[in-house]
Amino acid sequence: MLNLATVVAALFVAVAVVLLVYVRILHGTSYPGGVPRLGKPGVWGYISTALRWTIDAESVILEGRSKFCGRPYTIPTLSGPIFLLSPEYQEMVRSANDDIFNEPMAVSEDLQLPYTLDVHQLQNPYQITVLRTDVNRAITSYIPEILDESILAMDETFKVSKDSRVIDIPVFDTMTHLIARISNRVIVGTGLCRNERFLHAVVRFAEATPLTAAFISWSPSILRPLVYSVLSNILGGKKAPLKYIIPFLNTYLKEREFIDEKPNLVTEFLIKSAPPEETVLGLAVRLLNINFGSIHTSSIFTTQTLFEIALLPPEDVDSIRTEIQEALESEGGWTKGALLKFRKVDSALREVGRFYGLVYFALGRVALIGCDLGDGTSVPPGFRVAIDTKAVHFNPDVYPNPEVCDLFRFSKIRKAESSDSKHGFATIDAHYLPFGAGRHACAGRFFAAMELKIMVAHMLLRYDVSLPPGAISRPKNIIFNGAIVPDPKAHLILTPRR
Ligand code: HEM
Repeated sequence: MLNLATVVAALFVAVAVVLLVYVRILHGTSYPGGVPRLGKPGVWGYISTALRWTIDAESVILEGRSKFCGRPYTIPTLSGPIFLLSPEYQEMVRSANDDIFNEPMAVSEDLQLPYTLDVHQLQNPYQITVLRTDVNRAITSYIPEILDESILAMDETFKVSKDSRVIDIPVFDTMTHLIARISNRVIVGTGLCRNERFLHAVVRFAEATPLTAAFISWSPSILRPLVYSVLSNILGGKKAPLKYIIPFLNTYLKEREFIDEKPNLVTEFLIKSAPPEETVLGLAVRLLNINFGSIHTSSIFTTQTLFEIALLPPEDVDSIRTEIQEALESEGGWTKGALLKFRKVDSALREVGRFYGLVYFALGRVALIGCDLGDGTSVPPGFRVAIDTKAVHFNPDVYPNPEVCDLFRFSKIRKAESSDSKHGFATIDAHYLPFGAGRHACAGRFFAAMELKIMVAHMLLRYDVSLPPGAISRPKNIIFNGAIVPDPKAHLILTPRR
């Protein structure tokens, strides 16, 4: 039974939360700078639009685009207003230094890094340097290992039962587990990457972190440690995966003393770059950070790509297979050269990035100093700015029929232009923002391109992919707080090819 003291304490906490949120929202409704806000005026106008944003970002952005016709405006969100800028402001944000528009602070806020990982991640982000240097240089040498793990993991995961020739998979969940295992083959090696308990813990962490971070960012600062503690216990936080990574690192650190030729694991590169004061826990959290970057994003991309492939006519799927087989034959197997020739798989992944992507806004940054937007308005210090991604990705002057998800869009352009350097999945340009842009553009995009091309190509060679019986369209995405996630309940059917 609840006693009176507990009820009074709960009421006190509830009133305190409401007051603190109210003060936050007042701050969000009264910033200087002259940039208009979307939605009705006043606190209730702010709250109702922020709630709409949380569950239906698309309609909020479309309204903003038609109402403000390319001029800057703010979108109210439960964690504060975002200054949403049209594509013409992209260069200004992209080229600004971190002392003007700061990226690490935006990432830290989005993922609530001090809680979900630790405060050191962005103070000396050597894990990012390691990805940009050693890991990128090692990508060609990872190809056989990623292929080997893809074959093993898919053989174990996709098994036909006695009374059925087909395999029914919950796609998003399956892809997330596969990505976790296959990526970790080169992050931590064969031992841990096949440990089901570790995989379960790291997948839970990757899935829970964006949700946990959203709830933390909506809470008043004073309550954030409590919110993290409750949610990480319910949804899954860093503790569980660290229980596996720390003992793995302790053993690895002891054994590597006696190995002359060190393996090219991401772990090894991280250890070599760690500053002398780094602890085992610090290294472990950075490995978890890399896991998050890899699992969360790549699983969404593979899932979306498979849904789109399931909608293709069989002759189109066969044309992708023919291209893969010809590339493998001409290059003598799964080599860097062969992967470069998987132009249709590459195009499918790039189109999925254009059409769906991960979020409704790109180049999220925090303004550190007041920034003049050049039209008499400005972004005040401490506020968030971002670029309207879909305004870039659905520009009909750049992408004809932008509302059509055409998996061969980029392979056709590459063929017409006889150019391989532009329009590749991992290539960044002003019209393609799924990996961000500028000095903070995704550090793992070349790794992701290599891994996803191998996984999708291998799946297509081994299986026919189709929608479940009776389904005529692909499942709708789930939109939450500006993020675009495939429906986790949706299934696809795999039929082994003879
Ligand atoms: C399809 C897969 C992926 C997508 C769509 C993606 C997307 C992104 C985006 C949008 C950013 C922010 C860029 C900006 O602020 O301008 C980013 C940053 C980053 N990504 Fe990825 N990513 C993917 C895969 C990966 C993988 C596999 C890894 C690690 C192996 C990774 C590691 C990172 C890191 C470390 C950063 C921070 C870079 C910095 O702040 O300098 N990503 N990614």
